[in-house]
Amino acid sequence: MTLFDDTATHLPSSHFIHGAARDEASIKKDRKAADENFVEFWAMQAKELEWRTPWTTDCHFEAPRAKWFEDGRLNVTDSCLKRHALGTNANKRAILWEGEPGDTRTLTYLELYQEVQKAALGLRKLGVEAGDRVAIYMPLVPEAIIAMQACAFLGATHSVVFGGFSSDSLRDRINDAECKVLITADGGYRKGRVIPLASIAHEATRDNCCPSLENVVVLKRIGSVDESNLFKDGGFFQTMSWAELIVEDAHDFEATSLEAEHPLFILYTSGTTGKPKGVVHSTGGYLTQAAYTFRTVFDHRKDDIFWCSADVGWVTGHSYLAYGPLANGSTIFMYEGAPMTPDAGRFWSMIEKYHISVFYTAPTAIRAFMKHGPEVPSNYDLSSLRLLGSVGEPINPEAWEWYHEHIGSGRCPIVDTWWQTETGAIMVSPLPSETPTKPGSATREIPGIKLEILREDGSPAGENESGYLVSKQPWPSMMRTVWGDDERFQKTYWSKFKGAYFTGDSARRDSDGYIWIGGRVDDVVNVSGHRLGTMEIESSLLNHPAVVESAVVSRPDDLSGEAIVAFVTLQGSIPLDKKLSDEVKAQVTKDIGAFARPADVRFVEALPKTRSGKIMRRLLRQLAREGVINGDITSLEDKSIVTKLLAER
Ligand code: PRX
Repeated sequence: MTLFDDTATHLPSSHFIHGAARDEASIKKDRKAADENFVEFWAMQAKELEWRTPWTTDCHFEAPRAKWFEDGRLNVTDSCLKRHALGTNANKRAILWEGEPGDTRTLTYLELYQEVQKAALGLRKLGVEAGDRVAIYMPLVPEAIIAMQACAFLGATHSVVFGGFSSDSLRDRINDAECKVLITADGGYRKGRVIPLASIAHEATRDNCCPSLENVVVLKRIGSVDESNLFKDGGFFQTMSWAELIVEDAHDFEATSLEAEHPLFILYTSGTTGKPKGVVHSTGGYLTQAAYTFRTVFDHRKDDIFWCSADVGWVTGHSYLAYGPLANGSTIFMYEGAPMTPDAGRFWSMIEKYHISVFYTAPTAIRAFMKHGPEVPSNYDLSSLRLLGSVGEPINPEAWEWYHEHIGSGRCPIVDTWWQTETGAIMVSPLPSETPTKPGSATREIPGIKLEILREDGSPAGENESGYLVSKQPWPSMMRTVWGDDERFQKTYWSKFKGAYFTGDSARRDSDGYIWIGGRVDDVVNVSGHRLGTMEIESSLLNHPAVVESAVVSRPDDLSGEAIVAFVTLQGSIPLDKKLSDEVKAQVTKDIGAFARPADVRFVEALPKTRSGKIMRRLLRQLAREGVINGDITSLEDKSIVTKLLAER
């Protein structure tokens, strides 16, 4: 293997290989089978799931439409719960949970299955049927997974909204999918504080703002809110506690048999336009790839304790906290709170306490740990770890090496996994017994996936030439549409190159065939692994009464990967001060959530525009990143703006 970019190549350690579930030869067999016929390969993986009715056609693909295992019928809870609960895994621990204050819970597969049956029957009594939508706005507690599985049990499509989203964002999502039920909690703990979820949900739904809602269910997590009073003022829908929802006698309740293409969930994600899109995922195809990638990328062993630190409100939490591990009968660990609470050793103390063997987190978290120094993890026994994972943003080689050395003691391979909300499951990743790794590269496509890198004119980019990352081949967990806006689905993903799904990322492939992701080429920024549309933030800034115009770009940041810089013009004679800057930032927290808050707000006299009035974000991006503007300014209407912008810096 040649080395590229002077990055060191890491081979899987003998320690890992010795204890691995799958060896190199068996992974090579998967690659060979997938290379010969990727559709048959995926069909073979689908057979690992429980089906009520087998399918006859593996895949029907006519871009942009793909259908996998179309005439087969299943319910994902048969694979994720029932087969374990009623089989030899009944007493196996499914969920180990720890709350931020230190409270703990354990649920076996049998207990989890029964809890899901009880919640599902409760929802059925509220009139929830296959095809209805249910919004879930919860802290990271076992009931979040129970609620998702209860929806899947009935065939109700769930829409999980991350608990960090504002009331406005929650309202928009409930209304876009016309959810019938909202499941929330009185609160959750984060950074030693209570996030008052029920109050935010109340704000979102009051005054008949969400006409489709018939019921709100509130879990008591904190115990500080009287939820029955909270929602009583409107009378537009019924409110009940989680305890009231649960139907104790539900052990005979059977899950609904569904078509493979039935929409399992909607998950909203940011794009180029202001309005987030509801990415729709299927049942059979989605679970096939979530389950296969979980067992293959994370080398699933029966005795593993797997910890994915993502929130269930993001796609990583869907595929690798909930569906993928449960489909494989794995034991998952789930932690409610923040990584640095009460101190920087929290994660490592839990790895020691729960004997976590596989740990999957985001580069942002790793960089935050690096700042506290290697002494912190060195105080804990991390010897249970055998494999580490990374997701959500490019991992810089320095963070990769730190993770490898100080968390993995040099013996744990790192799987840097590239994928997206839209792809549903991992697409590019090393397979730990097989793939030598290069820090900073997610390496190669997993078996059954083939990506291409194209030039602007659609021709293939050459070796090490940067281009657009696309897939011309369908894959089982690909998104099926944008909820309620199929045209947008076609336009956003399938119009740049005919017959190809465009990821929105740039990439290059080196001489070893390894993929190096260059980042987004659209108006999407990635802050601490959270994906945000710059237009969403711009619309929020305009909600502040003093703001006339805004343009949002990003600059690199040591900790969060990218940080948001907002350029803003103001009404007439408003005085510039720190207070105003804080107020403008607070507007974004209010409208979207604290995770979208700009790092810098720069008040400028005017924004650089072309003669046709388009804001030249490219110039602002350069200013925010390099402190200069020396690009092509020929299309700029008023060239004197450059001098002013530089002076205002
Ligand atoms: O730009 C890529 C980046 O995150 C985007 C997808 O974001 P989201 O839909 O929120 O899903 C994140 C979790 C799967 C991608 O278009 N990204 C994700 N993983 C990586 C990455 N960039 C580089 N390396 C990765 N491993």
